[in-house]
Amino acid sequence: MAQHLLTLDAIDAKRFHDLLAVATYLKNRRAAGVPEHALAGKTLAMVFEKPSLRTRISFEVAMTELGGRALYIRGEEIGIGKREAIQDIARVLGRMVQGIMARVFRHDTVTGLAKWSGVPVVNGLCDLHHPCQALGDFLTMREHFGRIDGLTVVFVGDGNNVARSLAHACRHAGSRFVLACPKGYGFDPAETAALGVTEHNDPAAAVAGAHVLYSDVWTSMGQEAESAKRLKDFQGFQIDEALLAKSAPDARIMHCLPAHRGEEITDGAMEHPRSIVFDQAENRLHAQKAVLRLLMAADGDAVVKAAGR
Ligand code: CP
Ligand code: NVA
Repeated sequence: MAQHLLTLDAIDAKRFHDLLAVATYLKNRRAAGVPEHALAGKTLAMVFEKPSLRTRISFEVAMTELGGRALYIRGEEIGIGKREAIQDIARVLGRMVQGIMARVFRHDTVTGLAKWSGVPVVNGLCDLHHPCQALGDFLTMREHFGRIDGLTVVFVGDGNNVARSLAHACRHAGSRFVLACPKGYGFDPAETAALGVTEHNDPAAAVAGAHVLYSDVWTSMGQEAESAKRLKDFQGFQIDEALLAKSAPDARIMHCLPAHRGEEITDGAMEHPRSIVFDQAENRLHAQKAVLRLLMAADGDAVVKAAGR
């Protein structure tokens, strides 16, 4: 049966750590100029219902570097659930390609692709989750802190897809996740309890002792009709140098990008020496190579061993 990466809570902590180890292994081999063509002859279909810079380019480059190829497919073109039913699209793709990456609105769309296609499916962001982002982010944290356990990650902003996947990753890593958000923008209470996360409505108090101050846009793709209201509701939930000064002395600033400079993050915070936002962006490539290598190549276990796990 095909294996997938739909959410980080659907994999166990061992798999999470395996993926990070393989990402580092592949990153080091790339730096040493060693080719890694484990996906020669394989094709990844990339379905995008929403725009992208990082996700599209990193998956496409990852497939090329692994010896395969990637196809970019616009959501409007295939019209999921409009032009054609998901179970038909999934089965057609599954007859032609060896993997699917999908960036979609509804989480049901990625689960539908996984259920019907017969090939590995990777969630490249849906309204609820962004697992590939959190994997790249934890690779980045490990590079900067030398560990991923025992960290305090404070997400300042909306309890959105990026925040949720980071909370899942914190649990696998043994780190603490704090959500600093205006009232009404957190996870639902059952989820907050199940994830063991803390919600705060005062960013200055929330960041005390934080190793990571994490930010994302206040209005996610698909929520544009709410942007005026959100702009008002999120005032004060901005990462700036004053907020950084209230966190741990070696704290880092992170942002999944794209950033709305002057809204959720200031220029000063983006450009700060302790901002690691572009390391995060680069690590999307290395983390996703690990995902594709493990899910789409026949010898996934061998590369996990080669990576020292
Ligand atoms: N962080 C991220 O997923 O960026 P894109 O939306 O540009 O892919
Ligand atoms: N929360 C943002 C993340 C973009 C990478 C969105 O969904 O638009």
